[in-house]
Formats: sequence, C-alpha cells, structure tokens
Amino acid sequence: MADLTTELFGITMSSPFVLASGPLSYDATGLWEAYRAGAGGVVTKTLRLERAINPTPHMVAPRSSNLRATLFNTEKWADLPWEQWAARELPAMRGHPGLLIASIGHTPEEGEVIAGPVAATGAVDAIECVAYTKDTIVDLVRVVRQQTALPILAKLTFNWGDDLYPAAAAALQAGATGFTAIDSIGPTLQIDIETGQPTIGGAGNKAWMSGAAIRPVAQAVVAELAARFPAAPIVGTGGVIQAEDAVEMMMVGARAIGVCTGPLLRGLEWFERTHKSLNAWLDGHGHARLADLRGVALQHLHLAEDTAPLTFVFEPLKCTKCDLCVVLCPYDARLMAGDKPKTPDLQQILLEDRCRYCGLCVEVCKPGALTYGNWPR
Ligand SMILES: Cc1cc2nc3c(=O)[nH]c(=O)nc-3n(C[C@H](O)[C@H](O)[C@H](O)COP(=O)(O)O)c2cc1C
Repeated sequence: MADLTTELFGITMSSPFVLASGPLSYDATGLWEAYRAGAGGVVTKTLRLERAINPTPHMVAPRSSNLRATLFNTEKWADLPWEQWAARELPAMRGHPGLLIASIGHTPEEGEVIAGPVAATGAVDAIECVAYTKDTIVDLVRVVRQQTALPILAKLTFNWGDDLYPAAAAALQAGATGFTAIDSIGPTLQIDIETGQPTIGGAGNKAWMSGAAIRPVAQAVVAELAARFPAAPIVGTGGVIQAEDAVEMMMVGARAIGVCTGPLLRGLEWFERTHKSLNAWLDGHGHARLADLRGVALQHLHLAEDTAPLTFVFEPLKCTKCDLCVVLCPYDARLMAGDKPKTPDLQQILLEDRCRYCGLCVEVCKPGALTYGNWPR
C-alpha cells in the first residue's frame, strides 16, 4: 500500500486531504466527524465579527447534466459567533489528530480582533486568511501576523484574475507562510428553464461555483504559484472529486489537497473511499509515496509557444469507422478510405494544406486509432 502521509508546517497528516472551509466545518462536531472520516486536516468555517445569516436555499446543484459534481452556493461565513468558536468550539478540538486550521476573514479590522483569541486557544496549528479583495488579503495577513507566530495560509481566489499573483507575493511579504488556492469562483447565475426562476436564494441570485467545473482553473493557479514561489506550501483546493484529480493536483505542485464539494456531495465516506482508490492508483502505477509526485508536471510546462506541425499515427485495426474524425474536423482536412471497421483496408488521408493541427480529430477518436507521433514533445 502506498504512503499517503503528507507533511505541512512540520505536522504529519495521515491523509493528504484537508477539509476546506465550508458547511462541513460548521462547528467542533463537524470538524471531529471529518477527522473520524479520515481527513488529514480541517479548516474551520470562516470566522468574522458578525455571525452570518444565510439566504435560503443557499446550495444548489447544476441543472445541466454537463456539469457533474459541481455546486453553486450563496453561503456566507460562520453562522456561529466567533466568540463561541474561541470559547467553546476550538477548545473542544484540543488533542485533534493532523492539522487544524482556523479560517479568519474578511477585513484587517476583523483579523485584529479575532486572530489573538483564536491563537490563544492553543488548539489551532495554523490560520487561513480569506478576503474579498486582493488588497485586503495582504492587510489582513499583515495584521494577523502581528497577533500570532502560527503559520498563515493566504487563501487566493481566481475572482481577482491574474492580479492574484502580485497579491500572493505581497501576502508572503506581509507574513504569509503559504497559500490555499483557490476559493469558489463567481459570480455565476443559473436559471431553471421550466419556471424561468433563479435556482438559488441570495441577493441578485448570483452564486459561487465549486467542484469539478473549477478544477482546471485551480490547477492553473496552483502550478503558477508553485513555479513562482517554490518555497511556499500550497493547499491545492478546487474540484478534487476523485483519486485521479488528487494525483493531478499534486503533480502541479500542491503540498496538500483541500476538498469541500467532494465530501459535501458524496458524504464523509468520501475520504475513506478516495484513500482506497488513491492507494490503488499509486500501487498500480508503481509509486510508493504520493508525496513523490509533487510538482512533477511543472518541468513539462512549456514557456514558449510551439507551432510545429503534428504527425499522426493511424492504426486501422483499432478503427471502428465511426467517422467522427472526418465529420467533426472543422477544416474538412480528413478523409477516410475503405469501409470495413478494424481491417487493414482502412486508410486515413490527411489534407495537409487544410489541416491546422488543432488536434480535435485525435480527441474524438474513442478507440485510440488516431494518435500523435510527436506529441507530447
Ligand atoms: C457551500 C460552501 C461554503 C463555503 N464556505 C466557505 C467559507 O466560509 N470560507 C471559505 O474560505 N471558503 C468557503 N468555501 C470555499 C471552499 O473552502 C473551497 O475553497 C471551494 O469550494 C473550492 O473547493 P471544492 O471545489 O473542493 O469545493 C465554501 C464552499 C462551499 C461549496
């Protein structure tokens, strides 16, 4: 069985998965349940000066079946007062396994009041700072750093676009130790076409999106952060739903993996089930330790654009003659000769003067009869 242990801030977690701030971390009971289910670490719901009153309903699934394992939410921060967290919930976490991270937001003024008492509980191992703007995250980190020597994760959101990278650099300068990337993405809007009504409650009915749909964005951010700030640990968060997603997130440079939507939609059993399938994947691919995969993809990312023509390999014995490569080619650059599937009679003809080497023909070839001779390079 492969080794899934993950080290963050000098603490060894038995699992790489950290329950991200969200509904499952609503109080100490929720956090303990996540540990019992197998989470290596947990992040509290975000503590603010005012407790949240949430719109109803504030979690809805996509109506389109093309968006699986994705979620829309208009949930705010913690609905328990921060004083209760400091006096009761966090002290109840003493003796916890793995890592306990307290999430504090969203303004420097709030950080100044909340961070000290939270750190003084002695129960938390790190603080996660979360803010709405790229400027406030930096000021929030600075203020929290003045209150505590605990490691600080600056939570970053792609809602700031590429401005998140200068904010990340400034957050490190202000005292952050590492990053959590990313928060849910938005605003988004979903309408029920049977009624013409929005599906979710909240001002303007605009929601934040999490889960599978955001993972490629999260991975692009994690890879960029890992390349720019190699010494800063990253809790890669966003859309990890199954073991293979976790492998990919590690390969782009995550130190640990934050998960919210996966266990929300699949239940807390998600942790044990995903540990098993992650183990099976690692064993099947001859990897003894998950940690060995960290950042292995970064060396393959090409900085320069590559426009060289592709070469194609066609294996007629695999071709089912579905003709999708011909029909879907936007440039009418493909022809097929012969009509008996999986026979040597079949021939692929490429009209090179029409082909733009976009790659769609290879992507739509389900049996793998059409592949590249020179990609990846
Ligand atoms: C219902 C819901 C509530 C959330 N609440 C918080 C929160 O209070 N604080 C926070 O920093 N992130 C919050 N998040 C964002 C998650 O921590 C996480 O960054 C995001 O959902 C992406 O991860 P995922 O795709 O695994 O869900 C929330 C997400 C969801 C779905």
